[in-house]
Parts: sequence; structure tokens; C-alpha cells
Amino acid sequence: QLMSMRCSNRFTTTAITNTPSIIRPIALLNTSRHFPSSRRHLSFGQQTPNFQWQSSRALEAWVEKPARPVSLRQLIFFGGRHLDERRLLDSANYVRTELPTRIAHRIRDMQKLPYVVVTNPHISYVYQLYCEAFDSFRKIKEIHNQDDNDKFCAVLKQALHRHLTVIPKLVMGVLECRELMSPEQLDKFMNTLLRSRISRRVIAEQHLALTDTFHSPFHFPDSSPEHPNAHPDFVGEVFLRCNAKEVVEYCGRLTQKLARKAYGDNAPVPEIIIEGHLDTIFPYIPSHLEYMIGELLRNSIQATIERHYNPANPEPQQVPPIHILICHAPQHIIFRVSDQGGGIQNSELENIWSFSKGSKRDTQLQNLAMIPALAATMQELETSGFGHSVTRKDGHESSLTRLTSRPPNLKLGIGLPMSRVYAEYWAGKLEIHSLEGYGTDAFLQISKLGNKSEQLTLDGL
Ligand code: COI
Repeated sequence: QLMSMRCSNRFTTTAITNTPSIIRPIALLNTSRHFPSSRRHLSFGQQTPNFQWQSSRALEAWVEKPARPVSLRQLIFFGGRHLDERRLLDSANYVRTELPTRIAHRIRDMQKLPYVVVTNPHISYVYQLYCEAFDSFRKIKEIHNQDDNDKFCAVLKQALHRHLTVIPKLVMGVLECRELMSPEQLDKFMNTLLRSRISRRVIAEQHLALTDTFHSPFHFPDSSPEHPNAHPDFVGEVFLRCNAKEVVEYCGRLTQKLARKAYGDNAPVPEIIIEGHLDTIFPYIPSHLEYMIGELLRNSIQATIERHYNPANPEPQQVPPIHILICHAPQHIIFRVSDQGGGIQNSELENIWSFSKGSKRDTQLQNLAMIPALAATMQELETSGFGHSVTRKDGHESSLTRLTSRPPNLKLGIGLPMSRVYAEYWAGKLEIHSLEGYGTDAFLQISKLGNKSEQLTLDGL
């Protein structure tokens, strides 16, 4: 019996024994009084850490370093057809020093949370992951050659995989801590943490993609971009020629398919009408754009069906279409998604951006722990084994697999705030205007020129 208690209590045990000594907690506390979920982690003689910290010179030193944000253009500059060993190693060393810096800042944020919040088992699980990742990355020595880089890439891949559960864990943690911090504080914490996480995954995945390109048999640094097997329009994860209309069509098809799965073949699925500047092309990371457009369409389709479809009526029914307007301005691309799904009640409007106020979300939480449905990028899905490949016209695979691979009735409830995190990360915007009783207009603004740096925190720090 003792053995099985130990096994079921793996997290708590590792939390204490594996935490790097620089940041190891020095005392123990039982938190099950505050967090019912922590009870299943606790067994006789084992308790969660209380997070009073030994002073940590290593952490202090890294917290002092400022992050060095990059722009899409800089990401492109590292790669492209001029990618050579020097540039690859520069990219490797940038990621090698940038990851521990960015993680150290977030560890420090977590250390500033109220004591009782950090002891939440989900939050402390994430804290633990970050401490381990920080400790492993800060120790990696300068990367001098391809051999060093290959080893570094193996560590990166493993870390990306290990961190797949971070978002569901954070969502559960934040919901369990609703009574302990104000919604504003919790949302600020989540926004900063998630934006920073996107940024770390972007630079890590970009470097992995550049390394793949470098090793690809079709990569000849001096060859012309017309090489039949090269993808001159992709530099790592950045697609230089994102076609706004094609992205919308693609997301539309997949979200319509998802709606059919969720509501049954008899339910009418709204048509998606695309208008405006239909030849708009700009550089972006397709998985980010697809996440945002996919979530907006998913919301609009769901609202439209739920407002206009009556499953009790056996007659064929029709629902109003969703209109997407693409506007190509000098500095920005704007997508306006308009539906007639009844809008959002005024009393609900202030909650739509919150990670901590969702009420419907609670019932889904058990599932969240099991399903990495909030995978933020293609790689998260691939490594989680939940994705199935959808090959795009340009030969690359799309992150939208998450929409079709997610169980159709699993409403995660953070699509909107998460989409805004994505939009703001590359200095864009996401706004919702509700016409109560009629429909909703969502405005997604994307910075067109690729010269805006990552926005790592809410206050620019
Ligand atoms: C995360 O996914 O949370 C990360 O921090 C990724 C990084 C360790 C490469």
C-alpha cells in the first residue's frame, strides 16, 4: 500500500527531491486545506513545498539580465537562403542565453505571488518545471560547432515536450486560486506568463526549424531560391507570404467541420463570406494566425448555430452567414469577423477576456489535465501525439489540427483571452464589439511589416 501511495504521489516527491538546489524550498507545508485538488497529491509523510526560498545567486544573476526581444524580420534574418553555419550557431547561442533569462523573469514573478497561491499543486507543478528548465539551460556552455548544436537541439526538443501540460495546469491553478487573488491580478499573471511562454516556444522552435533546414538535403546556402524542393517562402516557422484569404478559407473549412461533428449532420452550419482586400499577403507565423482566426470563427459559428437552430424542428433550417472583411492598411492587416449569433450580454462582456472568471469552464477541468488541447503550436501537437497532419498547399503542416483533434464538445473557455495574448505578442490587437441581441464583431489587427518586436510583458519590462 505504501508503494502505491508513493507512485500516486509522484509529483510531490519529485517536487522536493528534484528541485535544483539553488531554488529548493526550505520548509514544508500541507496545503490541502486551501486546495482540495492537492489532497490527491498528498500522502502520509509527504507534503507540498511552502516556497520560502534559499537565496539564489544564479537566479538573481539571470533576473538582472534584460530579455532581448526579436522581431519577425530578425527571425527571418537568422535563416533565409543565406543560412550558414555561422548564422545557425549565432541563433543557437541566442536561444541558449535567452531561454534562461526569460524563464528566470517568470520564476521571479511566481515567487512574488502570495504564498498560498504558489502552493497550489498546479501552479507549483509549473513552477517546478520552470526551475528545472532554468537550471538545465543556464548550464549549457557556448555552442561552437554543429555537434554542440545537435546536443542543444535534443535538450530543446525534450523541454518543449515536457512543457506541453503547462497551459492546462495554469488554467486549473488559476481557477482554484480565484478566491485568493483578485481577478485582475490573476489575469495579469496569466497574460504575462502565457505571452512569455509563447515567446520562448517561438525562439526554440524557430531554432529547431533552422537546424532542420540547415541539415536538409535541399539546403544549399548558395543555391537559387527557385530550387524545386526548397520552400523559399518559409524561414523556419515564419511564412513570408501568408495569404489572408487562404488562411480564412482554411480555418473556415476546419471550423465548419468541427461544428458538424459537434452539432450533428442535420444542423445548419453558417456559410463564411470573405470580402475586402482578398490579395493581402504578409509575413507571419501561420500557427499563430490560424489559432486566432480559428478561435474567432469557432465562437461565431457556435453562437450562430445556438441562436438560430432548433434541433426539435424536423424541417431543414438555415442560419445567417458569417462575414469576414480583410482590410489591408499601410501598417496593418485587419480582419473583421461579423456574426449574427445574438451578441454578448453586457453583463458578460467584462468577463470575456478573463482567464479566471469563466464559470462554464469548471466542469471541463478534469479533461484538461489529460488533453493537451491548448497546444500553442504545431510542434506541441505533434509531440503530444494528438495532432494529425493536415498538409497545406505550400507543403507545410498546419496547427489547425488542434481544432479537429480536440473532442468537439470540450469547451476550454480560454480561446478569446488566449487569442488576444497571441495578437498582442507581435504587437497586434484583438477587440470585440457586441451588438446585444443581434451579433458580434471581432476586430483582429496584425502588424503587417514584421518590424515590431515581440511584446514580452504587459508593461514592457
Ligand atoms: C514552455 O513551453 O513553457 C517553455 O518554457 C518552453 C521552453 C522550455 C523551450
